[in-house]
Amino acid sequence: MLLCRHLPLGKLSVSPTRTAAESKEKEQELKKESRKTQNLLRGDLANLSFVGKPSTLLAKCWEIFCLFLISMANTILIGMQWGDEGKGKIIDVLTAQADIVVRSQGGNNAGHTVIHRGVKYVLHLIPSGILRRGKICVIGNGVVVDPVALVAEIDGLHKLGIKIDKNLFISSCAHLVLPYHRILDEQRELRRGRIGTTKRGIGPAYGDKAARTGLRMSDLMQPIVFSKKLQAKIIENNRILQALGAKPISFREVNESYLAAGENLRPFVANTVVYLHRAIERGKKILFEGAQGTFLDIDHGTYPYVTSSNTTAGGACTGTGVPPHRMDRVVGVMKAYSTRVGEGALPTEDAQLTQRLHSLGREFGATTGRKRRCGWFDAVATRYAEMINGTDELAITNLDGLDHVDPIRVCVAYRLNGKRLDVPPCDACQLANCEPFYEEVRGWNTSTRAARTFSKLPAAARKYLRYISELTGAKLSMVSVGPARGETIVL
Ligand code: GDP
Ligand code: IMO
Ligand code: MG
Repeated sequence: MLLCRHLPLGKLSVSPTRTAAESKEKEQELKKESRKTQNLLRGDLANLSFVGKPSTLLAKCWEIFCLFLISMANTILIGMQWGDEGKGKIIDVLTAQADIVVRSQGGNNAGHTVIHRGVKYVLHLIPSGILRRGKICVIGNGVVVDPVALVAEIDGLHKLGIKIDKNLFISSCAHLVLPYHRILDEQRELRRGRIGTTKRGIGPAYGDKAARTGLRMSDLMQPIVFSKKLQAKIIENNRILQALGAKPISFREVNESYLAAGENLRPFVANTVVYLHRAIERGKKILFEGAQGTFLDIDHGTYPYVTSSNTTAGGACTGTGVPPHRMDRVVGVMKAYSTRVGEGALPTEDAQLTQRLHSLGREFGATTGRKRRCGWFDAVATRYAEMINGTDELAITNLDGLDHVDPIRVCVAYRLNGKRLDVPPCDACQLANCEPFYEEVRGWNTSTRAARTFSKLPAAARKYLRYISELTGAKLSMVSVGPARGETIVL
């Protein structure tokens, strides 16, 4: 099935009654398709000769070809909830099978935790694949880059012995986060209707991008152009900052620090669209590392309590320039319960569960250190996330967080104004007024941390995992029982 997304099966199926002319036409069509898609196996396809009658040999070749394509699947990994699902950990596990790891959206609002050789790393802008030797990392056009923060992240990794040179590419089309974005973000957070942002300037930076007044990496690579544009932007933004009662910023200081950061980043800046397409032609496997989660998506999330990018699967295409038919599978990461940091409704929020998880030292934000709000697993949300993302496989993390919780609640529907809802309402106030319908399941009251196979998990834990996967509507393929790479069960 996955294969169909690469090359439609129909293009190669040969009917027994096909005439030589039809076959020739089909062959030409196939060649055209092959050229158009620049498939790396172009040569092999061209060698497949189509004759009037199907041969079992051809069918066999096709089967092998299918398997080969499936095995080099390009994977989009996304968060199915409100962010912090444990994407960093799962990316790290999947990176073993990938050649390239790409970020396509968000900025340094993300905090992806990876435990590598016993050391805990939190990655903000750099794809999590950077920790593994031989993997290439790409920051795509859809990401908003704070160059000063990125240089600091690179330096921090250098100090920890992580090599970053030819293994990182940054899109020249990626937009820049500038100090006035951060200050505007902070200022808006002081006012009514705050979102509880990370104050990294993400919303204002994407705002400028949409308003077509943003500065990009390509500008930063041309110091004279950059300085001119920056000066105009600072004059404009200083007026806004003054009106808000904030201190104006100095053009000279920003110009200097950004140009210095730009020089540091120059070796990494590239046309990443071309790079990724060439890599696909060469058969490289790409892992698209989603940041944030489905309900923080600017279109599909709990607006306005969202981030400013498309955090859902579609964002991987627009944010990298890799078209949808090059994507082979979508892996959705979700916690065995729900968490959220910042404002906005979390329908299954539960004070006791929150308290319990915090007392275990869990659920503190990786970027801001804020306490995450916690709640029961919300299948209304994850079912909707499955729909939006086309989730093929599920990775369920933090199962161990529920190890001594009994009974465990699962939200199977919402009730709003006496009516049952099976999908989350679009309106933030309505969502805030939704009451969850819970099913209760038995806990397992024992540690799952040592389990390395599904069968080694307690029966009640297996039942719970199957239950929440079925409610979500996707196949369970991974279970995480601890933060480390090895604390993973692959089904
Ligand atoms: P991300 O933003 O989705 O990458 O997630 P974060 O890194 O912000 O937060 C997830 C947290 O859960 C991190 O502290 C991880 O180390 C941790 N984590 C991930 N999976 C597991 C798990 O299965 N069990 C435990 N105990 N911790 C986990
Ligand atoms: P990762 O990739 C959890 C939340 C903020 C706030 C809202 C808007 O680690 O899962 P922003 O700074 O983006 O304008 O904030 O989105 N938020 C996240 N919550 N995980 C994240 O990233 C988040 N990135 C942003 O808390 O509610
Ligand atoms: Mg995080």
